[in-house]
Amino acid sequence: MLLRIVVCQPVAHSAVEQLRAIGDVTVWPGPGPVPTPLLKSWLASADAVMTMLTERVDQELISQAPKLKIAANMAVGYDNFVVAEATAAGVLLTNTPDVLTETTAELAWGLMLALMRNIVGARQALLAGQWTHWSPDGFLGAELFGKTLGIVGLGRIGQAVARRAPPFGMRVIGLGTRGQFDCPRYDWEQFLAAADVISLHVPLNPETYGMVNQAWFQRMKPGSYLINTARGPVVDESALLEALDSGHLAGAALDVFATEPIGRDNPLATHPRVVATPHIGSATLETRTAMAERAAQNIVQALHGQRPNDLVNPEAWPGRVAEGV
Ligand code: GLV
Ligand code: GLV
Repeated sequence: MLLRIVVCQPVAHSAVEQLRAIGDVTVWPGPGPVPTPLLKSWLASADAVMTMLTERVDQELISQAPKLKIAANMAVGYDNFVVAEATAAGVLLTNTPDVLTETTAELAWGLMLALMRNIVGARQALLAGQWTHWSPDGFLGAELFGKTLGIVGLGRIGQAVARRAPPFGMRVIGLGTRGQFDCPRYDWEQFLAAADVISLHVPLNPETYGMVNQAWFQRMKPGSYLINTARGPVVDESALLEALDSGHLAGAALDVFATEPIGRDNPLATHPRVVATPHIGSATLETRTAMAERAAQNIVQALHGQRPNDLVNPEAWPGRVAEGV
């Protein structure tokens, strides 16, 4: 039987070739996400699908996909999967860990530098013709050196961010005890009171949804900064706006938002003390290629009856792979 594989957006050629070697591949050419009705019609006969953050994989979608054995996300985060529903149906789910760790850590640092050293604001002023003279108080930011960087989520990405701190002369502290990294660990009140910059590196799940809320901001140090390269809904955006407007927070750098994409008039993105980017944490050529290849490899493994390396619902294994539906 010919294997049918659907890829929800154009991805690296090398990854598509991996898939073409084992079956018939349909790639949505974009731009943007594949329209849901079309995806459903393709899934009617598909054995595997490579999804992006934009495709919600739940019972409703799976009910249209009687032969689907695996949904392989091209992302490390998989909050677009309703894991319990896929597991109940015997559909394997995978993500792409490891390959985007360093690239995402680089963006967190890029945002931290851009935000604290006012790089974006200074550039805008320059382009607006406001660089009329050098002055002692022109375009001032805050020095990173000597500051305390608080990492929320010392998993792979959080650790990669933390490892880059010593050369910048920053001290690292961690929230809670999870994750392998040798640094002081604080409970949340101590942590928020001690950090000059907080960088978020937790997955989005019921435990982290809205975690960075009004009470959180109130306990953050006056004049401190927030960096979010994780998931938008981890932060209560109206509480963040309030903390920025009141001047309690010195600034925020945001790569992710509660609902994406946002428009150019978004009140956070346009805030003078916010640096905003359009969800580019993993957006390097090297990493996006590696992510697509890793997702493809998970599909190849599953369709060959092997347990995929990056299975996020091991309780589903072997699922429909065993049924050979
Ligand atoms: C991107 O946000 C990812 O989870 O890979
Ligand atoms: C600044 O450019 C300096 O020379 O101090």
